[in-house]
Amino acid sequence: MKKFLWGVGTSAFQIEGNIENDFTDWESKGNFKNANSDPRYENGSNHWKLWETDFEYLKELNVNSYRFSIEWARIEPERNKYSEKAILKYHKMIDKLIEMGIEPIITLHHFTHPKWFHTLSPWTDESSVDIFTKFANKIIKEFAHKIKYWITFNEPLVWALAAYGDAKFPPGQKDLYKVMNVINHILYAHIRIYDMLKEANPNTSIGIAKHFIIFKEARNLFFDKKLVNKLHSFFNIMMLEAFKTNTLEFNFPLILKYTSFIPLDNKIDFWGINYYYRLHAKFKINYKNPMELFAKEPATDMGWAIYPKGLRKIIKLVAKYGKEMIITENGIATEDESLRIKFIKKHLKIVKAQMQKKKLLVGYLYWSLLDNYEWLEGKSKRFGLIHVNYKNNFERTLKPAAFVYAKFIKKLCK
Ligand code: BGC
Repeated sequence: MKKFLWGVGTSAFQIEGNIENDFTDWESKGNFKNANSDPRYENGSNHWKLWETDFEYLKELNVNSYRFSIEWARIEPERNKYSEKAILKYHKMIDKLIEMGIEPIITLHHFTHPKWFHTLSPWTDESSVDIFTKFANKIIKEFAHKIKYWITFNEPLVWALAAYGDAKFPPGQKDLYKVMNVINHILYAHIRIYDMLKEANPNTSIGIAKHFIIFKEARNLFFDKKLVNKLHSFFNIMMLEAFKTNTLEFNFPLILKYTSFIPLDNKIDFWGINYYYRLHAKFKINYKNPMELFAKEPATDMGWAIYPKGLRKIIKLVAKYGKEMIITENGIATEDESLRIKFIKKHLKIVKAQMQKKKLLVGYLYWSLLDNYEWLEGKSKRFGLIHVNYKNNFERTLKPAAFVYAKFIKKLCK
């Protein structure tokens, strides 16, 4: 039987430290919530220096897989100039994981870009496809023979919405047509990278990590229900359908009407499911802002409603598309370990039941291995199984929830 992937995930920028990219640029301009209150990005969680220590913790967690990303700004800090030193370090990391019997799962794009890429209209301009594919090709040539699982893009829709929908990520614009254009270009890049990877190593398994949210009407009203349908089809379904129909399409009366043909031809081996929470939606008669979205259930430090049943719903939804599924992210930001333990246990119960029923479910990766830099929020939101003491040399300590996860895996894999 194929082994189930039990693991944890990270992304390069959030943990490595000492990176200069579009996000550090954005932070230096005071654009994040953490602008005054939180330590700045600087050394991140200092993983670039402490990666060997962090990998030791993987053993203690009993995981058999580890998802991480490769930082484009490190590899290609100047256009067409590659850092062999950085490439070598990633080789060392990958070799170490393989030696430890841990399956590396690589993400090629996890939100960040080199600064120079940002001056070129990131992803709204068609040239982005060539530029990113070139970087991806370099990585594939280096690592394809060592890596089975690849994630081309992490949450393309989340990135596009934050960058071009509500102006929270760089370049901070508000234009839904640009959001759709970005998705279109990202999917074109995905197709090219998919083909390159298969050519380099036919045994690879290639996916996209897609964010899913459960939407629920705030009131038992026709317009709230209609709104929920629209949000669900835009946020959860649109991209899944595009792989089936070769059409990226969305219509929200008065707000957005978009159709584009893309020859995706079902080129995806697994869907990565990033699942965190449920949102309630209220329709408002306001052309500029027709909805209110909010958390009704007990919330995490991110203000996200905890709704474990949603994970089962998403697994059932994605299973209909007939591809393998890996839960590539699921976790909680909290300082309350009893809440984290409860969160993990409830979600793992669902995973356990679903993996027995749905053979397509092939992995679960808790987000995140260690406390890290949480984008807009900075370092105050702690998702990690390992506590990072930012005030004392980035000292690491396993949190109680880590032992719960490790024990669960051990029991199940016996
Ligand atoms: C992202 C992670 C992030 C997590 C928690 C996901 O949207 O892929 O990078 O840390 O959610 O916000």
